[in-house]
Amino acid sequence: MMTWKQHFTSSVGKKLVMSFTGLFLISFLVIHVYLNAQIFLPDGKEKFLAGAHFMGTNAVTRILEVGLVIGFLLHIIQGLMLWSQNSKKRSAGRYAVKAGNATSKWYSRSMGLLGTIVLLFLIMHTSHFWIPNRANQFITGEEIDLYEKMRITFQNPVVVVLYILGCISLAFHLVHGFYSAFQTLGMGTARYKAIIRNTGIVFSIVVPILFALMPLAFYLHWIE
Ligand code: HEM
Repeated sequence: MMTWKQHFTSSVGKKLVMSFTGLFLISFLVIHVYLNAQIFLPDGKEKFLAGAHFMGTNAVTRILEVGLVIGFLLHIIQGLMLWSQNSKKRSAGRYAVKAGNATSKWYSRSMGLLGTIVLLFLIMHTSHFWIPNRANQFITGEEIDLYEKMRITFQNPVVVVLYILGCISLAFHLVHGFYSAFQTLGMGTARYKAIIRNTGIVFSIVVPILFALMPLAFYLHWIE
C-alpha cells in the first residue's frame, strides 16, 4: 500500500497533481480571457470594469483566489520536482541514443523552461495589476481603475514585448499541458483522444493570441 506521502511524491502522483492543478489553472484562464476581452467590445471600458469589480469584491471569488494561489504554488513546486527528477534520469546516461524529435516535440521537452518563462511573466504581471490593486483595497478600501492602469502600463514598448513573449511561452506550455493533463487522467478511445488533441491545440493558440492582443491594442491605440 502506498502512503499518502508516496501518492504525492511518486512519479505518477506528481503527474496527477500537475494534471489537476493544470486543468484548474486552465479554467482560470478561460474566465480571465473572457472578462478581459470585454475591452474589445463597444463600451468595453465599462464592461471590463464591471467584471473586474465583481471579481475583486465578492466573497466567492475572493475565496477562489486563495485556491488559485495554492493551485499555482502546487503546480510550480511539483513541476520543478518533476523537471529535476527527469533531468537527473537523463544525465545518468541510461539512454544511449537521444531520441530528439522522433518521440517528442521540443516544447514537450522544454516544459520546465517554458514554465519558468511563464512564471517570470506572472511575477511581472501580478506586480503590474493584482498586487497594487489588492494593496490599495487593503490600505484605502478603494479599487484601482484597472482599465486606466492597463492603458498606462501598455504605453511602454518593452512591457508590451515582454507580455507578447509571455503569451508565446504560455501557448507552447499549453499545447503540451492541455493534452498531457488528459493523458495522465486516462482518455479512452482514439476518437476521444483526437478531439482532446484538437481542442487543446485550438485553445492554446486562441487564448494566448487574445491575451497578446490586449497590450498591443492599447499600445497601438486600437482602443483608448
Ligand atoms: C496579456 C494580457 C493580460 C492582461 C491585459 C491581463 C490583465 C490582468 C488584470 C488587469 C488583472 C488584475 C485583476 C485584479 O486585480 O482584480 C490580472 C490579474 C491576474 N492575471 Fe492577468 N492579464 C493578462 C494575461 C494573463 C495571463 C497570460 C495569465 C496567466 C498565465 C494571467 C494571470 C493573472 C493572475 C494569476 C492574476 C491575479 C488573479 C486574481 O485576480 O485573482 N494574466 N490580469
